[in-house]
Amino acid sequence: MKIRNIIPIIFLLISASIFIACEDEDGDEIKISYYDGKESHRAGEDCMNCHYNGGSGEYWFQIAGTVYDSTLTNIYPGATVKLYSEPSGGGELKNTIEVDALGNFYSTEQIDFGNGLYAVVQGVELNKNMLSAITTGRCNSCHGNSQDVIWTK
Ligand code: HEC
Ligand code: HEC
Repeated sequence: MKIRNIIPIIFLLISASIFIACEDEDGDEIKISYYDGKESHRAGEDCMNCHYNGGSGEYWFQIAGTVYDSTLTNIYPGATVKLYSEPSGGGELKNTIEVDALGNFYSTEQIDFGNGLYAVVQGVELNKNMLSAITTGRCNSCHGNSQDVIWTK
């Protein structure tokens, strides 16, 4: 091959690797909700409509959703979402995510759902258990759509 044919190829390879590097950096960035946090938005919406690899949202969430109080319309800040290996808070605690001041929770951390994990949502007076196992953290894809919103008190 002649040298002037190789130059554009090298250029292409370099720009491709820069592009891939940036993508990786974005995807690896850690973003986890915390009790006092106010960085989230769009309570009740299916967060992963946008927060996925290639979506408009900056972060790729492995788990995200919204918690409401017993009115099912007001948000419930300060709840805690936990994932267990067995139903009703049994087995091993795999993950704990704090619900932020806007009622939302989210995490970019890798979660190994394996054959399924069991969600528990803890409020001050009430722990709510999801009886069936989930293999996705896309909570608001069901809750607020085909299911009641997630709530506690
Ligand atoms: C319609 C698309 C869309 C939906 C749905 C959506 N987001 Fe976002 N989100 C974005 C975009 C775009 C950004 C980046 C720009 C910005 O900060 O507004 C963002 C930014 C964020 C940020 C980061 C703010 C920062 O620190 O830069 C958080 C946290 C967040 N979203 C949480 C959520 C949660 C939780 C949900 C679901 C309850 C959700 N988002 C639903 C599009 C969306
Ligand atoms: C694929 C759909 C789906 C997804 C995804 C899902 N859920 Fe559920 N959830 C359900 C269904 C159906 C029920 C009722 C039956 C049951 O408990 O298994 C339920 C029940 C619950 C309950 C108990 C409600 C009550 O009033 O007792 C809680 C709490 C809950 N889910 C939390 C979550 C959390 C947190 C997430 C995300 C980590 C999540 N769910 C993801 C479908 C889903």
